Amino acid sequence: MCGIVGYVGRKEAAPILLDGIRKLEYRGYDSSGLSVWDGDFSDFKAVGKICELDKKIAGRPIAGRVGIAHTRWATHGRPTEENAHPHLDCSGKIRVVHNGIIENYQALKTSLRDRGHEFISETDTEVIPHLIEEVYDGDIISAVMAVVGMLEGAYGLAIIHADEPDKIVVVKRGSPLILGIGPEEMIVASDAAAVIRYTRDVIYLEDGEIAEIKDSGYRIFDGQARAIEKNIHSIEWDIERAEKSGYPHFMLKEIFEQPRAIEDSIRGRIIAEEGLVKFGGFDAIIDKLREIDRLVIVACGTAYHAGLAGEYMLEEHAGVPAEVEWASEFRYRSPALGPSTAVLAVSQSGETADTLAAVREARARGAFTLGIVNVVGSTIAREVDAGIYNHIGPEISVASTKAFTSQATILALLTVLLGRQRRMTQGAAREILEEIKLLPFKIETILKQSDYIAAIAAKYRDAEHFAYLGRKYNQPTAREGALKLKEISYIHAEGFASGEMKHGPLAMIDEDFPSVFIAPRDSVYEKNLSNMEEIKSRDGRIIAITTEGSNEIEVIADDVIYIPPTLEMLTPILAAVPLQLLAYYIAALNDRDVDKPRNLAKSVTVE
Ligand code: G6P
Repeated sequence: MCGIVGYVGRKEAAPILLDGIRKLEYRGYDSSGLSVWDGDFSDFKAVGKICELDKKIAGRPIAGRVGIAHTRWATHGRPTEENAHPHLDCSGKIRVVHNGIIENYQALKTSLRDRGHEFISETDTEVIPHLIEEVYDGDIISAVMAVVGMLEGAYGLAIIHADEPDKIVVVKRGSPLILGIGPEEMIVASDAAAVIRYTRDVIYLEDGEIAEIKDSGYRIFDGQARAIEKNIHSIEWDIERAEKSGYPHFMLKEIFEQPRAIEDSIRGRIIAEEGLVKFGGFDAIIDKLREIDRLVIVACGTAYHAGLAGEYMLEEHAGVPAEVEWASEFRYRSPALGPSTAVLAVSQSGETADTLAAVREARARGAFTLGIVNVVGSTIAREVDAGIYNHIGPEISVASTKAFTSQATILALLTVLLGRQRRMTQGAAREILEEIKLLPFKIETILKQSDYIAAIAAKYRDAEHFAYLGRKYNQPTAREGALKLKEISYIHAEGFASGEMKHGPLAMIDEDFPSVFIAPRDSVYEKNLSNMEEIKSRDGRIIAITTEGSNEIEVIADDVIYIPPTLEMLTPILAAVPLQLLAYYIAALNDRDVDKPRNLAKSVTVE
């Protein structure tokens, strides 16, 4: 996920572009760049946050009234100046900024290289200016139309050609793009946040649409190159909200991004017909994985809970002995690791100090190290022997949401990969993979219940303690649900295995101590019902999360939230979503600083 901005008008472009990418910094901030035209291109790039680009530009005023800019969140290639956008063709006449992923870039790059093109970056984006260079014959809009026909994947693009420097061509497919229409200027951006300081009149481009923007106006074309008219909308948000795309908090935005995040995590990795999973980062070590006889997952916080769900999946379906450890324990307790033990670090940031130390400890003890990491080029991603990226874009809210569901989804894919190397049949693998592909749609149906979940939150917002209970796959989900609530609302919450209640925690239950049961219709459903009865007979109030159709639960539980049916091993991925929403609404109703809870940090780079 990256942010792009383009400006053409009567004002100096550079300050507007810089202001725009600063507003989009939440979309990624590992490097940035801009190109402004004034008889020639002025290009600037910097690694790090946008303040680094500011420093490079300081004292060197950039003239020019047309330009494009980009803030990057690396997907292909590390955060370096070479990989920062805008990207160029061989002639140096073309500038391109891109948000998204070009899935077929390797094949395109190989054939462009064969035809003599030279590349300076590791990015997927760089193929685009070279392709445009090949087909350009005096009309940039038709050249871009020809090139998008060759691209697979998702993209928002803004392009300038030195032979037609009065215009920017923009294309949308899969990544957001908004045209802002000012009196004598046009601004294009990934998000309204970069636009509304200059105009509130916007056009939302749809997938497949291409636009040409000039200071004097714009033209929009559909996928068949037919000129089309589009409605102009007026943005009513204030700037603060617009940065969150209209959501009051990043956490809620990220909860709602989950269908897309899961799609991005699985894209290109499933070969459904053959019941196979492919992770690019594992190509070189695929045979080594066959020899692994034990997998130790190391992680912290939410990532630890995703690891717990993974442990159950790996043991039940892949037959791989697996265990999960807090990285902070693993690093100090002299773990016994055999030569065929693999240590898998799960980390959104890839920078958590304890997880990194656990990786180093594992390496020092001769173990093979793997990673599931979201931030490309982060330290853990660089230090493990082989890794898988989540590809879910930046997670800004301290409380992790989309990272959890993505991590659990990738662990399910890993289960299939390792299972197929062992005892899992093609049919069993296909069944799991088909269900994984349906997760984004099923999460959508849960998100539609957000108002209902907010109403439940309002009923329970004053409780001072909560128990979260689940069994088997949803014992980790219970612990994750409790963590979500405590970290953002400061309400005491504990996650327990339902079966453990009677060994102590049940003593706490009374009418002021509600329980949240994660009880989908799975192999332990009846057991959970019995545990619910035990709570009910101690006057405890119950919120139950169960599978659509299990209406009998309404007799026992005070409030019921339904999730769509799925395979038992995938239920944590669906059940986590209503738990995130419940925690969010309780915290928001209690006026907590949801995105930045007290005492916590997003990336814990200290012990
Ligand atoms: C912090 C965050 C959590 C996160 C944990 C591990 O505590 O607040 O949301 O789960 O770190 O972070 P990681 O980046 O390694 O996944």
